[in-house]
Amino acid sequence: MSLRSIKSSRSLRLTLRFVIPLIVVMTLLAYLLVPLVDKMTLKWSVRDLDARSRLITSAFQEPLGELLLQGNKTKINNWFARVIQDERLYALGYCDGTGRLLYHTASFPAALGCSLPGTSSYDSPALLQLPRGLVHVAVNPVSVDGVSRGSLMLVHDMSYAQRRSEDTRKYIVVFFIVLCLIVSFITVLIAHLSWRGWIAGVRMFLRGDEINRSFPESSHSELQPLVGDLKALLRAVDAEKRLDDDMTFTWDAAALRTLLHKQLMGDQIIVVSNREPYIHVKTAEGIKVNRPASGLVTAVEPVMRACSGTWIAHGSGTADYDVVDKKDHVRVPPDHPEYTLRRIWLSKEEESGYYYGFANEGIWPLCHIAHVRPVFRTSDWLQYMAINKRFAAAVISEAQRDDPVILVQDYHFALLPDMIRRAMPRATVITFWHIPWPNPESFGICPWREELLKGMLGSTILGFHTPFHCTNFLETVDRYLEARVNYASSTIARHGSMTLVEAYPISIQFPPAGHARLPAIAQCRDYVRKEMNIEKTCLIGLGVDRLDYTKGIIERLRALECMLENHPDMVGRFCFIQIAAPSRSEIEDYQAFDARVRALAAQINLKYSAPGYLPVHLKVEHHEPEEVNLYYRAADVCMVTSLHDGMNLVAKEYVAARDDEQGVLVLSRFTGAAHELYEALIVNPYHIEQTADALYQALTMPVFEQQARMCSMRSMVSNFNIYRWAARMLLDAARVRQREKLADRIGVQL
Ligand code: G6P
Repeated sequence: MSLRSIKSSRSLRLTLRFVIPLIVVMTLLAYLLVPLVDKMTLKWSVRDLDARSRLITSAFQEPLGELLLQGNKTKINNWFARVIQDERLYALGYCDGTGRLLYHTASFPAALGCSLPGTSSYDSPALLQLPRGLVHVAVNPVSVDGVSRGSLMLVHDMSYAQRRSEDTRKYIVVFFIVLCLIVSFITVLIAHLSWRGWIAGVRMFLRGDEINRSFPESSHSELQPLVGDLKALLRAVDAEKRLDDDMTFTWDAAALRTLLHKQLMGDQIIVVSNREPYIHVKTAEGIKVNRPASGLVTAVEPVMRACSGTWIAHGSGTADYDVVDKKDHVRVPPDHPEYTLRRIWLSKEEESGYYYGFANEGIWPLCHIAHVRPVFRTSDWLQYMAINKRFAAAVISEAQRDDPVILVQDYHFALLPDMIRRAMPRATVITFWHIPWPNPESFGICPWREELLKGMLGSTILGFHTPFHCTNFLETVDRYLEARVNYASSTIARHGSMTLVEAYPISIQFPPAGHARLPAIAQCRDYVRKEMNIEKTCLIGLGVDRLDYTKGIIERLRALECMLENHPDMVGRFCFIQIAAPSRSEIEDYQAFDARVRALAAQINLKYSAPGYLPVHLKVEHHEPEEVNLYYRAADVCMVTSLHDGMNLVAKEYVAARDDEQGVLVLSRFTGAAHELYEALIVNPYHIEQTADALYQALTMPVFEQQARMCSMRSMVSNFNIYRWAARMLLDAARVRQREKLADRIGVQL
């Protein structure tokens, strides 16, 4: 249906809604008024005829007296006949004092005689229904020279009164029709104007401040309180609902599925990320499936398993191509498929420009404060644009309807949201930025800063881990783009579309997948000790990271070296296992970092090792999540010392793995996780002595304190798990979709 026809049918509905009740009321009024008016008209006519009868009688007293004295019947009757030529006087009669009708006109009703119908006297007038119609009968006394001489009976025709009454009735009906039309017109006009005003108000509300430019406040000032109240009310309801939801509901896979079906009517979910959740690799034993070391994948994969749908990602494994169908689809997880993975192929050159170059040498160091300089090359930028386009085309080809929910993941796809929005304006694009967002000055050094921001503003919802990153983003847009940034509602309006910028701290599945099958803590310890050749008496410290300069691995090793220096009793009683997944190893900064970590580990080992004792065990290799869990369960302390990290899920994984409620977490204050896991030992990794002290405190912490801290952190991670993270975004998306539908219905372009 076109907008025009929607509008005209709406005004028709509006008109009918006002006019029909009005017509009903008016008809009812007319129905009640007409008999009343009839009655009054009759009363007036009777009073009129009474007076007339008295006037005629008094005018005829003299001539009639003379004629009566003469007693000439013919003369009297002729005189009577002349008198009734008056159009209203219908008949005339004369009764003597004894009540005999002596003279009368031919028209005098025979049935009347000298008495009035329904009365015994002659003094009051009466109405009489004759076959010819209603007549008025008046009996007036006649006196001659002061002597009473009978009475004159005057019969007036009442048909004129009936005609008058009919005319009045007609006038009343016409009057009511005209009144009805005028009132209808005025009502519809007022309704139309207030509808337009309301629409303008709603539009102003829906669009945020942007509307204020096109509708200056002064001209719509009467709507301001209404809009303000409406906004405040909706925000309060929203906040209340969120709080309720946060406090009372336990989110799990089933609840998330229900939410998807109820709130989003089972709408299609498409996830887009660079890293794929399952990597097929060729090995000597055949094709093997690896799961990557990626916080993003750890978090999003359980959501996808709960929601089904399609996950679009770069097919980076050596055997990836061998297992897909002709649409480049493969069902995953491989052992019990629950959703579809669509793989996108990149050439070496494309991967080098888009992934290694622009994403990981440009945006990654740009967004992390780790003192590694970003590198921006035009050739990388061109590849980045081209690959974003390719993924956008894949999203469009995978979409089964024009309004899917698309979850765009991370800094590899800053341009994708706008590309999708242009192709599918009705899609709900939720972009989640898994890494920190810098302040406007830092971000400003990117030569394509405006393009990146514009691309991201194609999102319906833009999520960061912390409110601090949201504020940084709002300020960055405010600084570099022509857009309406509303800090109070955390929204950005630009070119008629709106983006909600919100903090959604990411999390993990709780309890972790396959948790029930994990060996007991003691067994895990035995396994790890055996594996690493560690003495039973030795306390175990653990670090699990990608080999990335943002993770603070150097600072961590320095801190443990410092701790051994400060507490020589720990030498031989404590060793540290660093699991480091090789990462982005084509990039020079990463190669250099790898070399520095290895050198420092070797240096510490050289200093403190003894026969059968190695303080640092550096394992630079890929580990599957199940194996990492064995290490978590075996470790007395886990060190997360990132220099800057959006969230850091290793911290949460360690907590989730410790169902014995023991073990201590040392956590960098520069991670998003530090805003949630308050019971960890929070450190500044740049402060080596402080971190060393925290490590020592962890190793010597009494069990009851470990339990108290761990118990509280576990309750946090279990409550604020990955399903809640996804649910909060999807609920917000559902709200935005409802608002868009409302805007659609009232013909407002957001
Ligand atoms: C970070 C990023 C993810 C990325 C992961 C692993 O967590 O936010 O997007 O997948 O690192 O990095 P990689 O380059 O191996 O995918």
